[in-house]
Amino acid sequence: MAQSFSRNILVTGGAGFIGSHVVRLFVNKYPDYRIINLDKLTYAGNLANLKDIKDRPNYVFVKGDICELDDMLSLFEQYAIDGVIHLAAESHVDRSIKDPFTFARTNVMGTLSLLQAAKMTWEGDYAGKRFYHISTDEVYGALDFDETLFTEDTRYNPHSPYSASKASSDHFVRAYHDTYGLPVVISNCSNNYGPYQFPEKLIPLFIHNIRHNKPLPVYGKGENVRDWLFVEDHARAIDVIFHHGRDGETYNIGGFNEWKNIDLIRVIVRTVDRLLNRPEGASDHLITFVTDRAGHDLRYAIDSSKLKNELGWEPSLQFEEGIEKTVRWYLDNQEWMDNVTSGDYQRYYDEMYANR
Ligand code: NAD
Ligand code: DAU
Repeated sequence: MAQSFSRNILVTGGAGFIGSHVVRLFVNKYPDYRIINLDKLTYAGNLANLKDIKDRPNYVFVKGDICELDDMLSLFEQYAIDGVIHLAAESHVDRSIKDPFTFARTNVMGTLSLLQAAKMTWEGDYAGKRFYHISTDEVYGALDFDETLFTEDTRYNPHSPYSASKASSDHFVRAYHDTYGLPVVISNCSNNYGPYQFPEKLIPLFIHNIRHNKPLPVYGKGENVRDWLFVEDHARAIDVIFHHGRDGETYNIGGFNEWKNIDLIRVIVRTVDRLLNRPEGASDHLITFVTDRAGHDLRYAIDSSKLKNELGWEPSLQFEEGIEKTVRWYLDNQEWMDNVTSGDYQRYYDEMYANR
């Protein structure tokens, strides 16, 4: 007899970095929920991130594009979706500078089509339904060194095409709540780090380059500041907010863990050298200052005290421990990295699903 599930939750972008941690957490923690992972498998989607849970009875993978409204409507219908955790997005600032249209399509139009699918499917019976939109601290713009942290009331002031597209999607989510009564919740998180991050982002790129004695391109003077959170702590926050966040609310998620890029980079260099048994300072010469990112936001820093006070969430991992764990993971999982850098990972879909 087919198993029946207490909930059917659509996770979009589940083959990406954060999405794969969210899918794994939910599949393991809630065996009575069916988790439907919808992902287009762009360059950033990698099914190898979910190899350990791919055959679980409460997990389904669907290849698809959030921009296709008819497909989303069919998906909601087919799986009787009652909750959405929406992570699918174009996520890399440097790519958004080169190709803003792709960011507007996926992040704005894609979010809109998902909202519309949820509204059309659930309208008239919103009880027990929830549309959870995962967003970023970048919508708030940039802080100066002496400014206080971003709170949920900080005015939106995005600078990059990426953050402008995420800000726009946040506004659409609120508009669907205020106009149509769609039950929504939003969270805005700071920089994540940890296993399975695509090596175009600072931390995995630099670990990879140090290992292979390649230059480490530090934008500008390396003075920009980011607030780093271990990805599994973000996934835990998403679990708490999905289940207990108040309808229509926004929650900031952050690590209270600000690092100037150059200081963080020195920690990474030291850690990789130590774990590879290289003499201290062996890779310092790889640090290379390059032309700054256009419109580079100076500083992000999140005040997540609302989430702590209302829902009791706090980061669980100290940064030193998280970085050590992360560097070890990338060094121990060379095959994962090789498959990503060679492009081989893009054949996993055919191997796992296409011929079934
Ligand atoms: P990622 O780039 O690693 O993954 C994005 C996933 O979305 C990929 O699997 C990709 O294939 C999928 N996708 C892209 N376009 C799609 C489409 N049209 N239809 C279906 N799937 C599509 O991103 P990430 O770093 O895991 O970020 C996930 C979410 O969290 C994003 O919404 C991002 O804005 C947000 N966020 C990220 C961070 C961070 O530090 N990485 C911090 C705060 C918020
Ligand atoms: O703040 C949350 C955001 O964090 C997320 O919304 C984004 O999806 C995510 O990509 C991340 O954005 P950043 O631009 O902060 O991350 P990135 O890893 O690209 O860069 C981190 C910092 O390091 C930033 O100040 C730029 C700098 N950098 C980055 C790269 C890739 C370098 O100096 N050199 C590099 O090669």
